[in-house]
This record gives sequence, C-alpha cells and structure tokens, in this order.
Amino acid sequence: MSSIIYEPNRAFSKEARIKNMCEYKELCLQAEEDYTGYWEKMAREKIDWIEPFHTVLDESEAPFYKWFLGGKLNVTHQCLGRHLKVRKNKAAIIWESEFGDKRIITYLQLYYRVNRMANLLKNRFGVKKGDRVVLYLPMIPEAVFAMLACAKIGAIHSVVFGGFSAEALRDRIEDAQAKLVITADGAFRRGKPYMLKPVVDEALSVGCESCKKVLIVQRNREPINYVRGRDFIYNEIIMQESQHCDPEPMDSEDPLFLLYTSGSTGKPKGVQHSGAGYILWAQYTMEHVFDVKENDTFWCTADVGWITGHTYIVYGPLAMGATTIIYEGVATYPDVGRWWKMIEEHRVNQFYTAPTAIRMLHKEGPDEPQKHDLSSLKVLGTVGEPINPDAWHWYREAVGNGRCAIVDTWWQTETGGHMITPLPGATPTKPGSATFALPGIKAEVLDNDGNQVPVGEKGLLCITKPWPSMIRTIWGDPKRFKKAYFGDVKKDGKPVYFSGDGAIVDEQGYITITGRTDDVINVSGHRLGTAEIEAILAHHENVAEVAVVGRPDPIKGEGIFAYIVIKNEGGIGEEINMIQELNKLIVKEIGSIAKLDAIRFVPALPKTRSGKIVRRILRSIAKNEEITQDISTLEDPSIVEKIQELTVS
Ligand code: WTA
Repeated sequence: MSSIIYEPNRAFSKEARIKNMCEYKELCLQAEEDYTGYWEKMAREKIDWIEPFHTVLDESEAPFYKWFLGGKLNVTHQCLGRHLKVRKNKAAIIWESEFGDKRIITYLQLYYRVNRMANLLKNRFGVKKGDRVVLYLPMIPEAVFAMLACAKIGAIHSVVFGGFSAEALRDRIEDAQAKLVITADGAFRRGKPYMLKPVVDEALSVGCESCKKVLIVQRNREPINYVRGRDFIYNEIIMQESQHCDPEPMDSEDPLFLLYTSGSTGKPKGVQHSGAGYILWAQYTMEHVFDVKENDTFWCTADVGWITGHTYIVYGPLAMGATTIIYEGVATYPDVGRWWKMIEEHRVNQFYTAPTAIRMLHKEGPDEPQKHDLSSLKVLGTVGEPINPDAWHWYREAVGNGRCAIVDTWWQTETGGHMITPLPGATPTKPGSATFALPGIKAEVLDNDGNQVPVGEKGLLCITKPWPSMIRTIWGDPKRFKKAYFGDVKKDGKPVYFSGDGAIVDEQGYITITGRTDDVINVSGHRLGTAEIEAILAHHENVAEVAVVGRPDPIKGEGIFAYIVIKNEGGIGEEINMIQELNKLIVKEIGSIAKLDAIRFVPALPKTRSGKIVRRILRSIAKNEEITQDISTLEDPSIVEKIQELTVS
C-alpha cells in the first residue's frame, strides 16, 4: 500500500449519497448502537415485500443465521416488476457482441422474456419451487432471463462458468441434483465460434441421473448433437409460452441460488444464498459503493458465472432500475482499445473490473484510454485480487483522468456483495488499500485466539457480526460450512466468520488485504484450491507425489506452481511429455483457467518428521525467496537445497 492519500472529487461528493466521512461515521454509529434496527429500517425501506417480516435476525441456530423471518418476497419483483410503473421503456440491458452487434432490452421486454422462460421451465420441464437448475451459458441476455426465470418460480439456479470442463460441470450437476441444464450451442470468442453443448453432452454421459432435460439457446448456430426427448431448442419453443407469469411468493430465507467455489480442501462447495438478504445487499452496495443514479449506465466486465457477475451484472443493477451492459467477448478484440471504445460509445458511468485486466491493458496499451472520450466515467471499481499501487495509479490517471473515484472492493462469493470498500464521495483513498468496512459491517483483523493484532501486523480477516447477505450454508453439507467458516477463530468464546484472507490495519484504520492465508490460489481473480489441483495431478500414472503452491505473477496476480516427484525417471524427453499430459489432465478436470504455470520435477518434497508437507518452504522457493524458517526439523533438510537448485529460473 502506498502512503499517498487521495481525497474524493469535490464536485462528485456534493451529489453523492454519502458525501463525507462524517456521514459515513454517522451510519456506522447508527448500526453500532442498534444493529438489528439499522438493517430493519433498510430492509423495510428498500425491499418491496409481499408480506412484511416479523423478526430481523434469528441467532438461535448460529452460525446458521436467519434474516427477515416471516417476510415474503420475490426478487424478480424487486428487479423488474416494481420498475414497470416508472421505467418500463428504459434500457435494462445493453448487450454487445465482439462483432459489435447490439441488443437493447427494456425493462418491459425483460419482464416479458423472463415470464416466458419461467412458464417454459414450469410447463415444459416441470421445474418447481426448490428444484435446482444448472445454467452453462455464454454472456448473452438469455443467461439473465434464465437466472431471473428461476427466481420467478422459486427454483434455485446454479450458474457454472462456461470455461469449466465437462467433469467440473458434471460434479456440479450431481452435487446439486439438478433437474435441468440450460446451455447454448456455443458462442464467439476472439472472433471465432466455440462450443458449449458438446461439453454438456459429455458431462451428462456419465451419472447425472437427476438431470433429464437440456434446454439449448441457439447463439452461434453451429451444428450440435441433438438427443431426442432430452434436448429442446429454446428459440423454437419459447414463443409458445405466455408472457404473463405470477411470481412465486418466497420466504426470506428460501435459497435463491448456489454458486460453487473452491476451498482449501476437497471439492468445490456450493455456496448457498437466500433471497431477501442478498437482494438487499445487492441494492445497498450499488447505491453506496457505485452511487448509481437514475440515468447511469453501469458496466461490470465479470462473467455471469462468478459472484461478481451475479451481483453486479444482474441482481444489483436491475434492483436499482439501472442500465447494465453485457459484453460477450474479450477485452482485446479486435484490439486493446475495445473496452475504452465501448465506454465512450455507451457513455458508461460506473466501470467495474479486475486488477488482472487492468494490469494487462496497462501493459498492452498504456496510452490507449487517452484516445477515447472517457469523460462519462464517475466511479471505477476493482475486485477479485489485491491491486498493486502501480495498476491503481494507472487506472486512476489514464482511465479516470485523475477525476474518478477508485473503489477497491473486497468481498467474496460467500459475502454476496461488497464488504470492505471506499465510498466514492466520502472515503479518502490509499492506493492498494480497500480502506474501511461498509456501515454495519464489523470487519476485524484478529489472531488465532480472537485478539486484535497490533497496528501494522498481519492477521486473519474476520467478520465478527452476521450480515444479511452472508452465505447460509454449503449445499448439502452444513458441517463443512461450520468448519470452513466458523471453525478457526473465536472471539470472546464465540465462533466468528473467517474469510480465509489475511489483512493489515494501519494507524489510521485503513485495511489492506494481503491475500489468502489458506491453500487457495487466486489466478486472475479465479479461486482455485491447491488440494483440488493436487488430487487431479496425482491421478497421472507417473506421479508419485505432488504439491501445488501459488507464485506471484505480474499480470495474473498468482500463477500455479507444481512440484512433482515422479515414479520412474525417464529423462528430459519424458518430462516434457509429462508437462503436456499433466496440463491436459487439468484442462479435462477443471478447465484451462487452472493450467499450470510452472512445473518442477524434484527428488522429494520437504516434509516434517510426521510426514506433513511444509508448503511454506515450497512457496518461498517458488518466489525465489531466501528461506528464513528453521529447516532442521525436516525429515531431510538437505532436500531444500536440492529443490532450490532445480527451481532457479
Ligand atoms: C480475493 C470475488 C484483495 C480475496 C468477489 C477473496 C480480493 C477472494 C479483493 C474472493 C480485493 C476479492 N482485494 N483481494 N479488493 N476482492 N479478493 O469468491 O482473496 O471469487 O477471498 O469473490 O478474492 O474471491 P471470489
């Protein structure tokens, strides 16, 4: 983190919802003094309830916290229905393809589209309240129709990122016992068609008993395999459905969606969110962190397959009645000016992306933003990984022209929306720091015993009070939920939520996130568990032992570094073959986002006498750092030097 402080832009602050730090502190105080009252007021004001709630927060089964009990709502009414009176002809979605084709969908049109899809799910596929539906879709408006159609009838959507492999998709279909998969023939990327439907076919070829039907949206119109009785083409049947559909009244705590994410152990876990708390958060953070106004155009570049896409492409902007941009394609097609060109053309007001993308665009085209009129921009956001001060400054100066607020937002799939972030009209920012927790969020940096760590020292980032949009459980595995999030840190004898991240608080209270403290690697903002990758590599017939660690990467944040002990020494030629084979395995089981950046074949791994791999040493070696820890307790201390010799480069 740098020590420079940037005050908010005065002209912006004047118009902002939260105009200065006094107002921010006043809200924090209100929440401190009457915690449930703070959320009660907000939930009553912001949510359009079918039936009001009677209990704000039920802690009786903590950490299975329940919010807004007794309330009934449907989030699609919050996102669509209630807007029809005032903004039915306003653009809800502006979609653009790499080729520059555009689709503009108004709130009324979106409402009808969602209703038709909801009816299709109900009538044709028998999807009912509580059923799980897997979405494996590209960045097309139909992905939004499908998510909201599920929400409308009370089905639980589980969106699987289109870059995941058939195996990863199958795991998720099976874990959720999904009834239906909604996919597309394929889409376009870097100007060329690619396919999704064959991946679904492969996923369904083994197991997946629960899933009897597949709905296919035609997008690239490439030929696909069609399984009669199982497969249905959306474009051919959708117009037979009525555009009217009553929303299912849902209890506040009924699940809205599952989203699978990696943890430090085992298979990815289905993070479960519920409707009321989540939608409240999506709206609260859009208002406070992006300060979105009626005429604004909001663009989040994430994929809908990640939580950022859920909250800040779909639910947040639509709950606000804003216009959300969806871009199907990559940032560098046809050239590195693509995003800046789109910001200029659509007069984007808030832009939200990942540090990886900022670093890449900085490197590839440092002067590119200046070639475009970016004067519409007001707030620039980042998410997904720590942002280094260099990238932060370039974002502020080259993209924001020194005028826009930079909001470095820290949060997770599990938190549903922003937790620690500047407020654009109020918070003086320090490059590299996510600054302060939102009003109502109690973020603390603790040691293992639940004590606050001293200023300037690294500790465990915990959220010590429940909040409305928090993860409710891990689908089908409440024990794992308790252990993974409420198992490590206790404060005053009570388990508190531990994020898995480390953080430092400075003397002014600014929080800087230092990255994961567990065995999770963050590659370009994608969370990957080392255990998950190791289990896959261990399947290779010639792998005796494997350990995977993260290594800093100038663009991606972290890269994947694998140490491998092979069974048969076959010489250099065989090692080259193995590198290819190991990467093939990874692509097959997870997808190309998890490809290995470096592999070192080593004679053995550093282990304690009890046989535990000492990853800290492997991390230091991967970073080319001096080993400062005591290695005398290792089973074979000489192995460290041997590995170091093999690892230089
Ligand atoms: C990391 C993405 C530093 C962090 C919304 C967290 C960040 C993980 C930031 C969650 C940030 C996210 N600064 N690190 N502003 N935002 N992270 O679940 O390690 O895909 O635990 O959610 O990303 O990743 P996830």
